[in-house]
Amino acid sequence: MPFPIQWQDKYSVGVDAIDQQHRELFAIANRLAVAVDSQAGPESAANTMHEMCEYLDRHFRDEEQYLAKHPDFDEHNLIHLEFIEKTLDFQIRFSDHDPDLNREILAFLMRWLTEHIMKTDKRYFSYLREHGLLAQ
Ligand SMILES: [Fe+2]
Repeated sequence: MPFPIQWQDKYSVGVDAIDQQHRELFAIANRLAVAVDSQAGPESAANTMHEMCEYLDRHFRDEEQYLAKHPDFDEHNLIHLEFIEKTLDFQIRFSDHDPDLNREILAFLMRWLTEHIMKTDKRYFSYLREHGLLAQ
């Protein structure tokens, strides 16, 4: 996955607050890519990875407040929980001394995230919109 990754309209789920958080995840990922490549940069790769995982955790909880109205909420919630577990593993394996491994983890994380937005989030938010279950 090439960095920096650009936000595109196709990623929009149609809810500004959630799009904004997804954009922030992209921004953190781009900072992370720089930190991984410049080992002597201003930000530690491991610290930025930690920040990414914490933001992702908070983001999932915010997103779940919308998704809770969806009949298949449990399924989506489980996907989030499983991914949070994975991020704990990422944080353990991420190291300021192994840029190749860091790049691999970061690429996996962003592939997962963009696919999740495109295939799962968008489907759920469309359903909520079509059924009048979104405040916005
Ligand atoms: Fe999601």
